[in-house]
Amino acid sequence: MNATQLIARKRDGEVLSDREIGWLIDAYVSGDLPDYQMAALAMAVYLRGMTDEETAALTLSMLNSGVTLSWEGRTVPLVDKHSTGGIGDKVSLILAPLLACCDVRVPMISGRGLSPTGGTLDKLEAIPGFRTDLRIGEFQQLCDSVGCVIAGATADLVPADRKLYALRDVTATVSCIPLITASIMSKKLAEGLDALVLDVKHGSGAFMKTSNEAGQLARSMVATGKRLGVATTARLTDMNQPLGRMVGNAVEVDESIDVLQGEGPADVRELTLALGAEVLRSAGRFDTCEEAEQHLAQQLSSGRALEKFREMVAAQGGDLPAARLVAPASEIVARTAGVIQTVDAESLGYAVIEMGGGRKVQSDRVDPAVGIEMRVRIGDEVARGQPLARVFAKPQAMDAARGIIESAIRVGEERVDPPVLMGERIR
Ligand code: URA
Repeated sequence: MNATQLIARKRDGEVLSDREIGWLIDAYVSGDLPDYQMAALAMAVYLRGMTDEETAALTLSMLNSGVTLSWEGRTVPLVDKHSTGGIGDKVSLILAPLLACCDVRVPMISGRGLSPTGGTLDKLEAIPGFRTDLRIGEFQQLCDSVGCVIAGATADLVPADRKLYALRDVTATVSCIPLITASIMSKKLAEGLDALVLDVKHGSGAFMKTSNEAGQLARSMVATGKRLGVATTARLTDMNQPLGRMVGNAVEVDESIDVLQGEGPADVRELTLALGAEVLRSAGRFDTCEEAEQHLAQQLSSGRALEKFREMVAAQGGDLPAARLVAPASEIVARTAGVIQTVDAESLGYAVIEMGGGRKVQSDRVDPAVGIEMRVRIGDEVARGQPLARVFAKPQAMDAARGIIESAIRVGEERVDPPVLMGERIR
C-alpha cells in the first residue's frame, strides 16, 4: 500500500477500507509512517469525517496496537463508565465500588486532569499511599478479588493513542468526532468489557459546549462500541455548573464518601445511580433501569458500597483515615443581592489549577488539599454578603484565584431556571 495515495483518497472524501486503516495505524506505531504523513491524514479526517465503519476500523486498529485485557474463566460481566470530563465530576470514585456490589466487575482505567477538568487518578492520590500505577497482572488480580480497581493506563495499552493524541494536540485536530471516538473507545475497549456507559457532558465546564455536539459524539461512540461487540449506551448530561458542591481532590474524595454512605449532594447521587442503572441493564443484570436503580440505592443505604470503597482503597495501598487534609478556607461573598444567573464551571476548574490543585504543565505536583466548595447553584436567590463559595488554599494561592472565582459566579436580577442534569439517553 502507498501512504500518500491513501492520504490523498481521504483528502478527496473517499472511504478507506478496514484493511487500509489498519495498515496506516500499524505503520504509524512501528515508525514506518512518519508524523508528517499521519498529521496530513488526521487533518484529512478532521475535514472530511469518517463513516461509522471507518471509525470502528480506526478504533479496532488502535485497540490492537497494544495489549488488551482478557479475563479467562470469569463468571460475571465486566462493566465500566467513561465521562468526557467535567468540573467536580467524582462519579467514578463512587460508581466503581457501587457496581462491584452488584455481581459485576469494574476494571476502570482512568486518567489525570486534562486542562480544567480534574482527573480521577489525581483525586484518588489525595488518599495517602493510594497506588494508581499498577501492572496489568496486579490490576486484573485486584479486579477479581475486590470486584473493582481504578488505575492509570500502562505504556503498553493502546500506544497508538498516546502517539496520535500528542500529534493531534499540535496539529489542531483534537476536536474531531471520529478521532475523539477512536481515542476514547480504544482505551475503554482494551479493558475487555461486556458493557459500557458513557457520560457525555455539555456546557460551560465540558469539552463539548453544546448538547448538539455532545449528541454527535455520543452517537458516534455508541455506534462504535456496538460494532465492536460491547453493549454501549450514553447519557447526555449538563455541565453548566460543577457537579456536587466540591471541586478539587481531597474535598472530592470526602464528598464521594458522603454519597457512598447514602448522603451527599442530590445531583451526584442522581447521576451516579442513573449511569450505574444504565450499565447494569446493558450487562443483563436487570431488565429495567428502575429495578437496577433500586438495587443500587440499597447498596448505598446499607453501607455496602462504602465498605467496598474502603476495601478498594486498602487493596491499592491507600490510608483513608489519613486523608482528611484540607487547606485553610476563606469565603467569596455576593457583592449584590439577586439570582445566580450563570456559573462558568471551566473558570472554576482553572482557578483550582491556579491555586495548585491541578497541573499547568505535566510535571507540576498537585496539592491535594486545594479546592472550592460551591455554596450556591444556578437559579438560587442570594442576599448581599451571602457566601457563594468557600475556597481551600493557602492565602497567597487564594489571592491569585479570587478574581477568577468571583467573576465565574454571575449574580443578576432575572429569575433563572436551574439546568436539567439528565438529558437524552442514547442506545
Ligand atoms: N479524551 C481522550 O481520551 N481522547 C480525545 O481525543 C479527547 C478526549
